[in-house]
Amino acid sequence: MAEIIYARINNHDLAAFCAMLDNSRVFSDDETRQAYGHDETEDLVHPPEVVLKPQNTAEVSAIMRYCHDHFIPVTPIGGRTGLSGGALSVFGGVGLSMERMNRIVQIDEFNLQVTVEPGVITQVLQETVAAQGLYYPPDPSSRGTCFIGGNLAENAGGPHAVKYGVTKDFVLNLEVVLANGDVMNTGANTLKNSTGYNLTQLMVGSEGTLGIITKAVLKLVPLPKFNLLMLVPFFDASKACEAVSAIFRAGITPSALEFMERDAIDWVLKFVDDVNVPVEASIQAHLLIEVDGNHMDALMADCEVISDVVQQFGCGEILFADDEAQKAQLWKLRRKVAEAVKSNSVYKEEDTVVPRYKLPELLSGVKAIGQKFGFQSVCYGHAGDGNLHVNIIKGEMPDDRWNDELPHAIREIFTLCVSLGGTLSGEHGIGLVQRDYMDIPFNRTELEVMNRLKLALDERKILNPAKILPAQMPV
Ligand code: LAC
Ligand code: ZN
Repeated sequence: MAEIIYARINNHDLAAFCAMLDNSRVFSDDETRQAYGHDETEDLVHPPEVVLKPQNTAEVSAIMRYCHDHFIPVTPIGGRTGLSGGALSVFGGVGLSMERMNRIVQIDEFNLQVTVEPGVITQVLQETVAAQGLYYPPDPSSRGTCFIGGNLAENAGGPHAVKYGVTKDFVLNLEVVLANGDVMNTGANTLKNSTGYNLTQLMVGSEGTLGIITKAVLKLVPLPKFNLLMLVPFFDASKACEAVSAIFRAGITPSALEFMERDAIDWVLKFVDDVNVPVEASIQAHLLIEVDGNHMDALMADCEVISDVVQQFGCGEILFADDEAQKAQLWKLRRKVAEAVKSNSVYKEEDTVVPRYKLPELLSGVKAIGQKFGFQSVCYGHAGDGNLHVNIIKGEMPDDRWNDELPHAIREIFTLCVSLGGTLSGEHGIGLVQRDYMDIPFNRTELEVMNRLKLALDERKILNPAKILPAQMPV
């Protein structure tokens, strides 16, 4: 099939959008287009030709119908915190910012559910339901500014996924506007559902390529009353990774189990000036371990088991957070690693994931690949999920070598992940920047199934083009 030629936006289109949204929510000025042309993915900028800010489903539907009829690409935009380029308007067109659709529509405390619009900030949702004793666990590091819509689109995770699950595990039902403007619901507001194809889970993680999520019914759980947090230093990073699966095998499911190698903690300590944790020169990595629940005695007992386990892997003195302020400091350290790395050097972040027990092999393999290609890497992440964020650091490497060698190094890292039973991304998505590695985890048949699904829902391929499927895939 021939390549799709998208239309450029002209004055006639702008007038049509103004009629749909009123002028005040249509932006074609350079400043706005630039601001909505990037997320947190490296230094990439792909501005839309126009930014539209709909405030209800009917407006989204009218925009989609128009863009479908006129072959205009549409890229949904959330909090712009993505790390795989999912919100970049690679072919220009419409940047559909969901920020005005930010209502928490209903908290159903009888059924432990909440209905939200996609522009709700994740932390706002968490704090609102917490006031009613309820908990929405998925908590990416960007939770202070990311949107639920973006979390749904990328199937975001975060530290608490290890016990509670990722975004997909909290979605009951979605309202979606399709590429041609039609509106549908994907399921029912029930905890169980064996009724037809699972369209809900097809939409989750589809990165805005199959439809625009305009409403979501999410599951909540009771807010645990207590938690305990400990920071465990290790003399050997590989041993820290080995301790991770041993903790689960000892019968404990922590509510968070995070890994930070030495450089990660050094860099973040320099980056945040109000947190101080002493780190001995002999320490090579840390595990940040949290347990939560309703019975303090049980949590203390869990911590004792964890302490016994980690001792077997060569750890230093364990730091138990004394109070809420110290817990907040330790969490700040962990959550700021990505920003600290970004502020330090040009880098490339990968979101590798393997079965938990394979984590030590992944870490040593990444280091070996780094040595072969001559780059440094800073690794950290959600060790309890086998999800390791690998930051490849450019440092002093000359530009041409960085540009030539990096794709080969990444290919080797992903090939290693797949050989260990893992895959390319645990929680950041494929987006723009990983799409050309999709031939590693998927064969031709599997990629063609994805392409056929895409065509079934978006035959003109106007929804978030250049994402997920490899560039060489027939359009
Ligand atoms: C984190 C983001 C980068 O774990 O996923 O901090
Ligand atoms: Zn993460």
